[in-house]
Amino acid sequence: MVEESYVIYAKNIVKRFGNIVALNNVTFKLRKKEIVGVVGDNGAGKSTLMKILFGIHKPDRGELYIKGKLYPELTPKKAYELGIVLIHQERTLCPHHSVWRNIFMARELTGRFGFLKIDEMKKRSEKALQELGLISRIESVDTPANYLSGGYQQGVQISRALVFDADVVILDEPTNALSLKEVQKVLEYVKQLKERGKSGIMISHNIYHVYPVVDRFVILNKGMVVGEFWKKDLNLEDLSHIMLSIAETGKIPPEYSKINLAEKPDSKEVEIK
Ligand SMILES: Nc1ncnc2c1ncn2[C@@H]1O[C@H](COP(=O)(O)OP(=O)(O)O)[C@@H](O)[C@H]1O
Ligand SMILES: [Mg+2]
Repeated sequence: MVEESYVIYAKNIVKRFGNIVALNNVTFKLRKKEIVGVVGDNGAGKSTLMKILFGIHKPDRGELYIKGKLYPELTPKKAYELGIVLIHQERTLCPHHSVWRNIFMARELTGRFGFLKIDEMKKRSEKALQELGLISRIESVDTPANYLSGGYQQGVQISRALVFDADVVILDEPTNALSLKEVQKVLEYVKQLKERGKSGIMISHNIYHVYPVVDRFVILNKGMVVGEFWKKDLNLEDLSHIMLSIAETGKIPPEYSKINLAEKPDSKEVEIK
């Protein structure tokens, strides 16, 4: 079955919020060792799709396969167990809790008698933060989250994925609040995922942040997949041209039809090396 060859296969997903159709028959696939960029204007449905893949929202219609198995009732807890981590657009740290508490939130390490392994969690938190290299000034992992800069807070979120060695890391607009240098660190992290045999989904409306790190693009517009391209088929200028055209006319220029996987259903199953 084709669904089995993907880490994530979301098929014909529909999601409504009252009268708003946030996702209209969206099919999305993610392979092992693949980084996919999801791009599109504000309100296109990017975050809604990611929340479905992580079990925050339940689709009204469609099927969600993870590692080949169908999950009709996915929850964030289950998604974590399956190795999926979602790094949110919204700040999701608990402001009064320490860095290490936030990193291990809801997944605390405990010893034989249920005691928290605090030293171990602090040590692992420090290691992850250093490995990420996002932090120039190393603060204590006991620092409460609300004392941290935006970049550091983002680092804490990414450290959650590092600590748990997630198989699929979803980053929803991870570069929004970051300085240029911090952006580079995050992009480096996304690139490394692939080398470590993991998969990633990178969302940004800044195509200059997405382009360097992905293998494939999925373009959402008004809840629909209007374009899907291998990066090797597009240069940055092409992508910029396409995004502009969608913003202005809602359409992808016809000269890109031949390489648009969203318009060629049978070429979608091509495997990447
Ligand atoms: N929890 C929600 N309740 C109501 N409407 C929502 C909710 N989440 C998203 N939407 C709506 O769904 C559409 C898609 O939103 P979203 O997925 O956040 O887009 P994007 O992340 O691409 O900017 C928008 O019209 C948005 O207003
Ligand atoms: Mg969003």
